[in-house]
Amino acid sequence: MAILGFGKKSSEGDEQLKIPVSLGVIMDGNGRWAKKRMLPRSAGHRAGAENLKELCRNCGNYGVKYLTVYAFSTENWSRPDDEVNTLMDLFVEFWEKYDPELEQEGIRVRFTGDIDALPERIKEVCRKGEERSKNRQKMQLIVAFNYGGRREIVHSCKNIARLVKEGKLDIDDINEDTISGNLYLPDVPDPDLIIRPSGEQRLSNFLLWESAYSELWVSDCLWPDFGFEELTEAFRAYTNRDRRFGGLSKEEKK
Ligand code: IPE
Ligand code: IPE
Ligand code: MG
Repeated sequence: MAILGFGKKSSEGDEQLKIPVSLGVIMDGNGRWAKKRMLPRSAGHRAGAENLKELCRNCGNYGVKYLTVYAFSTENWSRPDDEVNTLMDLFVEFWEKYDPELEQEGIRVRFTGDIDALPERIKEVCRKGEERSKNRQKMQLIVAFNYGGRREIVHSCKNIARLVKEGKLDIDDINEDTISGNLYLPDVPDPDLIIRPSGEQRLSNFLLWESAYSELWVSDCLWPDFGFEELTEAFRAYTNRDRRFGGLSKEEKK
């Protein structure tokens, strides 16, 4: 369980906000954003990519330590080839264009998902991006790309089965920590808060294992329009949540 940071100030003067250590964002609504403007879906994806840079800056300034963003799901391959190709091209372009800014902000980049199954040019971008940014300290940006929560759990199970087969692990010693420890990025804390813009009220296969006790916050704002005010609103809601983890609230324990 992550330790929560207090004391960050929002734009509303001296308002005290509780800031999640680990935040997840499902970057959804690009298509609808474009449709509203009578633009092609690709324009929505481009606007969405631009907005990721803003989110990184805002989260870094607020003191978030781990920001996991859902960029492409294992199910998104079912979209038309044109759209998938646009998303892959934008992915490559984003790092070329924005890594210097992320560097200035002290943001380390990591990738989570079935990266091995991606085309070589994408894998190369992931490898280089991680290597280039590994010493940056302010915040970790974790990009979920070709990510599926179920596939991640399968990945963990396979690792564990291998350890058992090799005689390195006893079946009776398998517990929740074993599953967590064999996920893609076991050192990243479970998200304290998951934000979903675009109004949909589902996880769509995002961080299924890790989200067991995450607070959820849905916004009707479409992802490319999701800015500082919306982020602050989410943190304001989070500040007022009573996270009991199955126990009692502080007042009831007294
Ligand atoms: C999110 O926006 C981007 C990806 C899923 C890759 P969408 O493309 O899902 O946008 P909507 O949901 O159609 O508005
Ligand atoms: C979730 O959005 C995946 C990403 C934002 C990358 P989708 O648009 O794919 O999810 P559904 O289809 O509405 O559940
Ligand atoms: Mg969508």
